[in-house]
Amino acid sequence: MAEPTFQSLIEDLEKYLEYQRDEGVQRLEVERAVLEELASEPLTEAPEEKIVEAVPVPADFADIGQLAAYIGQCRSCPLCQTRNLTVPGEGRTDGPDIMFVGEGPGADEDEQGRPFVGKAGQLLDKMIEAMGYSRGDVYIANVVKCRPPQNRKPHPEEMQMCLPYLRQQIRMIRPKVLVGLGGTAMEGLLGRPVGITRIRGVWQEYEGIRLMPTFHPSYLLRDASKKKDAWLDLKAVLAELGKTPPPRK
Ligand code: URA
Repeated sequence: MAEPTFQSLIEDLEKYLEYQRDEGVQRLEVERAVLEELASEPLTEAPEEKIVEAVPVPADFADIGQLAAYIGQCRSCPLCQTRNLTVPGEGRTDGPDIMFVGEGPGADEDEQGRPFVGKAGQLLDKMIEAMGYSRGDVYIANVVKCRPPQNRKPHPEEMQMCLPYLRQQIRMIRPKVLVGLGGTAMEGLLGRPVGITRIRGVWQEYEGIRLMPTFHPSYLLRDASKKKDAWLDLKAVLAELGKTPPPRK
């Protein structure tokens, strides 16, 4: 077997930490020697991060397209410095049954300006289809509209700056049910950190709209054994809408 490289070790560590984060772990103890070892390697891509300009979000957009155009110009947080395209969201905007909320764009989304178009997006598409919908029947958005570098979790200040956009979207779109995909989406919607493993499957409420927390598709790609639980959550959403899943193809 090939010797692991420093890069591959870092990638494995990153996956492990993402897994822990999705499990709701908020703190880890790391030995000083390990930190010193990591710090001795040069870091790639570390742009200087500073707030550029905090812009209050107006409440009177004519439609969701105008809001998306406004998001496209946003320079309220440091993520604007490293993004390629903003990813406002897409789908049905006239009171769809379901609006899915994820964490933030990854590399593919940043390239295309569309939410959930990478590997996690392919799984989300399957989840939507298993529920008897197509992508165009639902709305899909994220807590932050610009890609965090290296797909890290968005910082609290970035979430705070961006959340007014999501809130505005939900107010304009008025979905019947919200589905929060993963801990960060739930943290954004509920305004407090949550452990997704504990909260998933338990109905919450956001501004009078029923909100179902479930696992993020990226997490399901890392741990397929959790797909059963996610499917229970999605079936609960269908039941809330008075529907049952279509027969499997
Ligand atoms: N993960 C997310 O949370 N959102 C996307 O749009 C893509 C991947």
